[in-house]
Amino acid sequence: MDQDRLLRELSEFLRIPSVSTLPVHNTDCRAAAEWVAADLRRLGAREVEFLGSETHPVVWGKGPEVPGAPTLVIYGHYDVQPPDPLAEWTTPPFAPTVRDGRIYARGSADDKGQVFCLLKAIAASSPPPVNFRFLIEGEEEYGSKVLFDLLKREPQRVRADAVLVADMSYVAAGWPAVYTTLRGLCYAEITVRTSKTDLHSGEYGGAAPNAHEELCRLLTRLKGEDGRITIPGFYAAVKRPSRAELAAWKKLPFNEKDFLNKRVQGKGLVGLKQHSVLERLWALPTFEIHGILGGFTGQGAKTVIPAEATAKVSMRLVPNQKLKTVERQLAAAVKRLAPKHVTASVRFLHGADPAQITLEHPSFKLLDQAFRKVTGRGTVPARAGGSIPVVPALASAGAPVILTGIGLPDDRLHAPNEKLELKQLWDGIEVFRTFYELLGSLESGVRSRG
Ligand code: BES
Ligand code: MN
Ligand code: MN
Repeated sequence: MDQDRLLRELSEFLRIPSVSTLPVHNTDCRAAAEWVAADLRRLGAREVEFLGSETHPVVWGKGPEVPGAPTLVIYGHYDVQPPDPLAEWTTPPFAPTVRDGRIYARGSADDKGQVFCLLKAIAASSPPPVNFRFLIEGEEEYGSKVLFDLLKREPQRVRADAVLVADMSYVAAGWPAVYTTLRGLCYAEITVRTSKTDLHSGEYGGAAPNAHEELCRLLTRLKGEDGRITIPGFYAAVKRPSRAELAAWKKLPFNEKDFLNKRVQGKGLVGLKQHSVLERLWALPTFEIHGILGGFTGQGAKTVIPAEATAKVSMRLVPNQKLKTVERQLAAAVKRLAPKHVTASVRFLHGADPAQITLEHPSFKLLDQAFRKVTGRGTVPARAGGSIPVVPALASAGAPVILTGIGLPDDRLHAPNEKLELKQLWDGIEVFRTFYELLGSLESGVRSRG
């Protein structure tokens, strides 16, 4: 493997600030799509196309046709989350830098570095006997609308023997994982208005309602201090993991104290204390406040009663919750909790149903073998706290969706100083190269029986 050349190529990809949620980066998103398309062509892919959007297209391609060979869809995303707060990055987010065997950049682990890994694993040997299909999207971090619409129109794009997704991490260093669930998501803005305009807090304070105060009260009524979400009906569909699954999690290399001290780096954990931390992270729904807008936040002091306040919030959903139901539950709760003197509204930005995958198909065994061969340990089944909105749609044609990844839990996704360990990348290329070869040698009879 020519590691220097690969690092140069990966750096080129990481240098493109393809932040999908910010319109000022539309041309950068397009540029990242072009980079992916060029790389697919270098791999010998045919029919490389931009689908569904000019600025955030899904990049589609087909590898060389191998008659009778299994079909594998490779999914990934070239878009990234915003890099702020910029001041906290040791080196700038879009100036990829190698330090101590790691490459630091926004997107290094989520997900450009992993897309890169999946593609370079194909280039790493003479083409394995697999019919590759590529679906690399540019809106994963913003709800995947373009890809959802595409798959609704053209579901045959995911007709395959398997779909491979590398957008996750090992459960711990040395412990590769395969994921059986992803949490869903319901992202919303809650806005309260209390008067026509902002008011002088001396002239009006004491008698006029304050939008920030009302919003805070409303938010604390949606979730109690004990971490329990108090939206009526919210937990009704939540399915607890089986005893066997909970017992298996106890054997994973996960330590609650280390999680607090090394990863959260805070003073204490919160949430439903009667459930283990892993259960809280993987199998229970959440309600988080991402930011609160409105009022005076500039330098110095201004005495004003804000007329409007907005909170950006999201809920993570678990099997068998439904996005549509949760949207209705939140809207009803906000309406019910807002006092008469407050106008409250909810706007839904994007969302996803939770995903559940059974590990029955023979390709899961092949992934396990590939990891075992390269890293010395096979895959442990785990659950993911994060979301990949299109996973249920990727599964809609019946192909098993293999959720795995080469990152590590401390890669700092979405946060300052995101990184990918180079050892993980080099191992990952070997792992997927091995997986493709094993898949290519799978007889078609075995495939369809899975
Ligand atoms: N790669 C992550 C999902 C992920 C992270 C899965 C960690 C498992 C562990 C993905 O890029 C992501 O961040 N998704 C968003 C989706 C949302 C913006 C619709 C998420 O989970 O916040
Ligand atoms: Mn991702
Ligand atoms: Mn992400």
